Amino acid sequence: MANAQLDTDAVHDRRAAPPSPDDASRPLVEAVGAEVELVCLDRVERAYVDLDCAASTPSSVAVAAAVDQFLPTYSSVHRGAGFKSRLSTAAYENARHLALEHSGRGGGADTAVICRNTTEALNHLAFRLRLERDDVVLTTVVEHHANLLPWARYARRRYVECRTDGTFSVEDVVAGLDARPAPKVLALTGASNVTGWLPPVDEICDAAHARGVRVVLDAAQLAPHRPVPAGPDFIAWSGHKMYAPFGAGVLVGPFSAFADGEPFLAGGGAVELVDLDEVLWTDPPEREEAGSPNVIGAVALGAAIEELGTIGWDAISRHEAALAARLRRGLDAIDGVRLLGPPPEVETLAVATFTVEGMHHGLVAARLATEFGIGVRHGCFCAHPYLIRLLGIGRDGIATARSQVLRGDRRHIPGAVRASAGLTTTVADVDALLAALRLVISGSPPPVDYVQDEVTGDFFPASDRSGWWSPEGGAGGGCARG
Ligand SMILES: Cc1ncc(COP(=O)(O)O)c(C=O)c1O
Repeated sequence: MANAQLDTDAVHDRRAAPPSPDDASRPLVEAVGAEVELVCLDRVERAYVDLDCAASTPSSVAVAAAVDQFLPTYSSVHRGAGFKSRLSTAAYENARHLALEHSGRGGGADTAVICRNTTEALNHLAFRLRLERDDVVLTTVVEHHANLLPWARYARRRYVECRTDGTFSVEDVVAGLDARPAPKVLALTGASNVTGWLPPVDEICDAAHARGVRVVLDAAQLAPHRPVPAGPDFIAWSGHKMYAPFGAGVLVGPFSAFADGEPFLAGGGAVELVDLDEVLWTDPPEREEAGSPNVIGAVALGAAIEELGTIGWDAISRHEAALAARLRRGLDAIDGVRLLGPPPEVETLAVATFTVEGMHHGLVAARLATEFGIGVRHGCFCAHPYLIRLLGIGRDGIATARSQVLRGDRRHIPGAVRASAGLTTTVADVDALLAALRLVISGSPPPVDYVQDEVTGDFFPASDRSGWWSPEGGAGGGCARG
């Protein structure tokens, strides 16, 4: 392990990087907690390397400051006559306005419903589109579960398949649009949370609209990294993936889509008048926001949008392109690593999902965390159909995994490792991952054995060093679930 420490420490020191924002040597967004260090298994303290931005980004310092500044005037939204309520209402409505602007929908025909996250937004919309059981929703096998499962509750689904590189073409989507019965809705991701692949959204929207099909864009991964495209009719995304904690997400769509019919949530704030046997719903967006709104979440979301606006898309793209190239080319060049999805030459987000020959994905993730202080994710990333295809698991493999999971044994659940970067990430973080992986793959033995938890499938060092594992700690939620 002596060499391992030396090598990783050399690439770990983000302060040693020369100051130039264009090559991603410094973060573009300052993260709360960037200074957090942890004691690794070798008892060496290292800076935490956060390569799990596709799941949740750290909070930005600017967002935290905006929330701090707002908190003294925090109060109830919309329903209070007091001074603080008025300020809170104004802050909340300002966040809605910023969300509309961020999605390029500031013109007045659209509304932004503030909700918990993308999952809630898509469930909300699937209910609200008032689909009939025989209606067809065209979606793709690339989707996150949040853009697959809600549609199944209300309609039939048809899928655009992907190729072995995890992509599909506009023609593939057109074939799905032209199949009969004609779809009512196309539900599409703006960017894959697994491979970072960016489907050609503009062309796909044109094809759908030419056939009278409305497009729903899951922009959870796209909205923090690229301008939101103009084409989709509905857009959903989450604040916690764009440096804004506190749980606010957005559903953007035309006013007219929410003007009639029952809202998704029934309750206070969504009504004009209620009698015991009658309700007059109010107008959108309040009609869609029953219950006390999450004003702190909205303020955080608004501050994050403003910060991205200040940085600007050019700088964001340059920073993330540098990270994506370093990460994806670097992984692709390591013997024993298989990068899933399109090859590194294809433009993607700074996300890479990979497998390591002969090593369980959970063990790779555990070793990166406990020996090197690097946080990645492993498992199927809430996109099981996509992972199954990328990994090339056939029917037998699926059947075996299914019966094992039904028995409560997740040790052999298929999966991969994902590293994902953002504006808080630097090339030094990416290099730390590459160096650590090279060591792990080279056969460098772990300082202690690892044990696998049968219930979660996760690996833990068989040691109580650094508090990594406590036998009484309970299994918790497994990383591989989702
Ligand atoms: C592409 C995509 N869609 C939807 C979601 C769901 O987002 P949330 O968990 O914020 O609801 C995620 C989260 O990882 C995602 O990556």
